[in-house]
Amino acid sequence: MLLYNIEEFSTQLSRSSPYYLGNGVLESLPEVLKKYEFDRIFFVTNEILLRLYGKEICTMLLEHGIECKEIIIKDGEAHKNFATLETLCDRLVEERITKDSIIMALGGGCLTNIVGLAASLIFRGIRYVEIPTTLMALTDSSLSNKQAVNGKAGKNLFGSYHAPIFIWGDIKYIESEKPQNIKAALVEGIKNAFISDYNGVSFFDSELITNIDKVDSDEMFSIIQYIIKSKQNILMKDPTEREYALILEYGHTFGHAIEWITRGQIIHGYAVATGMCIAAELSNKLGYLSKEDVELHYHLLEDRLGISVSLPEGMNSNEIMQTILSDNKKKKSGVGYILLDKIGHCRMQNGHCESYVDDGIVRGVIDSYAQHNKKRKYA
Ligand SMILES: NC(=O)c1ccc[n+]([C@@H]2O[C@H](COP(=O)([O-])OP(=O)(O)OC[C@H]3O[C@@H](n4cnc5c(N)ncnc54)[C@H](O)[C@@H]3O)[C@@H](O)[C@H]2O)c1
Repeated sequence: MLLYNIEEFSTQLSRSSPYYLGNGVLESLPEVLKKYEFDRIFFVTNEILLRLYGKEICTMLLEHGIECKEIIIKDGEAHKNFATLETLCDRLVEERITKDSIIMALGGGCLTNIVGLAASLIFRGIRYVEIPTTLMALTDSSLSNKQAVNGKAGKNLFGSYHAPIFIWGDIKYIESEKPQNIKAALVEGIKNAFISDYNGVSFFDSELITNIDKVDSDEMFSIIQYIIKSKQNILMKDPTEREYALILEYGHTFGHAIEWITRGQIIHGYAVATGMCIAAELSNKLGYLSKEDVELHYHLLEDRLGISVSLPEGMNSNEIMQTILSDNKKKKSGVGYILLDKIGHCRMQNGHCESYVDDGIVRGVIDSYAQHNKKRKYA
């Protein structure tokens, strides 16, 4: 487009972050960190993770002449809010953080989202290093550069894009994670196969997933690599998740509502699993997805992964729709749902991956889903 009297430049601002992934690789961290010039490291984590891994990291860095100021915050969905964010930002300023400092976050997706957002706000952006300690953070949240806190009306309502200068992924840290959190993270991996990689389905339809609590570190490494690559393949086409990469939200519209209504009692991954099954039923109701492909959702999530995809007792379409309608994904044209037309492929409409569906049809699918809960295995 030619604009009168206006010359067009590009800011050339898009930036990708290195992601280092290994197993028991702490010794190499100082070397990587020394590539950057900085005055101090502000090391933010929670009390438990500081004890489990944080002290060892800070000691290692100190041995290489890098001093860390340890800062403890509370994490978990109930603390992922403005109050925690404000306390952290004020504390960092009190501790005399400067524009030359680096903030390092050690934690799961919740903690790193809070710290990443603080890093994006302080002096309009401080460099940030992410050390994920959950499978979810290793394979999902750390890749998207999206930082956020929850609001009164829903999850992740307030946030920004702030890329870490690098991600330090050490799979050793997930050894202490609860098995249910490992399974919750695998749901996102299964989602990536459902939305964009038909071949990935056979990767998850295997004994490896059924016996996930018994896999060795090499097997876990290959699972992590698969999930990271499958998400990266999507993000490379659309790094800020404004168009094509919105397919990553498959199951999330319903999932976020379930997570929000239960105040996090149903954790993110489990809520998304149920959300994907509802989205698959909706896709089937609209004639886009075959019954066999819907059944494959139950097979991978219930039979293979062994998790429940039932809605909590008493949860109905009114509650879910009310939450969805105030969700951060709602646009002028209504709620855009990510639907499948076959396994490994999302339904596209006029080049867009969001489908706008009559609220009444969505309510009907949710109610019928809730009624069939009792027939499901893990209800
Ligand atoms: N930004 C994104 O793109 C994105 C993507 C996915 C999820 N998320 C967000 O991530 C959050 C979920 O993250 P999560 O699944 O990592 O859970 P989490 O961060 O809530 O962690 C769950 C619990 O495990 C603890 N924990 C963390 N690491 C541990 C370890 N190694 N050993 C023992 N305990 C450990 C945490 O302190 C917490 O109590 C949600 O808030 C979600 O919105 C964001």
